Amino acid sequence: MPEEQRTFIAVKPDGVKRGLVGEIIKRFENKGFKLIGLKMLDVTQEMAEKHYGEHKGKPFYERLLRYIQSGPIVAMVWKGYNVIAGARHLMGKTDPMVAEVGTIRADYALIMEYNVVHGSDSPESAEREISIYFKPEELCDEYNNMAESVIEDLG
Ligand code: RTP
Ligand code: MG
Repeated sequence: MPEEQRTFIAVKPDGVKRGLVGEIIKRFENKGFKLIGLKMLDVTQEMAEKHYGEHKGKPFYERLLRYIQSGPIVAMVWKGYNVIAGARHLMGKTDPMVAEVGTIRADYALIMEYNVVHGSDSPESAEREISIYFKPEELCDEYNNMAESVIEDLG
């Protein structure tokens, strides 16, 4: 049985500006993942530095911080079996030009600097990133567990 996980997904500012929020949510829902947290917000400098700490010192770091603060993001927590790798599979490779056709980045983005969507890359990053953007009480985990049990009850 594959592992049930949580992951942090964000529609980045370019994705929000281009009206891709619904399309991205649809792809995750179609796959069978469950949305347990959702908010639109402006990322502060402090949040951006926490989120992208692993990239500090890289040539693209400053540009990345400006990009993620260039407009509101839509921050989400998704849950499901193998959702961390599964979400990255739906998103495609970092560079939209080498991402496989059919993935979000291949279908909706041209360049790495504006690749419309973010997804955590490990269980540790997922929990760290979720805690930057959400308080535990903002996540509706119980609701989804309940939905599952209602479906089971109905047979
Ligand atoms: P993400 O964290 O956004 O889901 O993307 P990722 O894991 O596929 O890629 P990562 O290596 O974590 O890079 C984070 C974001 O930084 C930008 N980037 N630009 N110009 C460059 O060489 C470069 N490399 C990375 C991208 O926006 C990437 O999503
Ligand atoms: Mg990453």
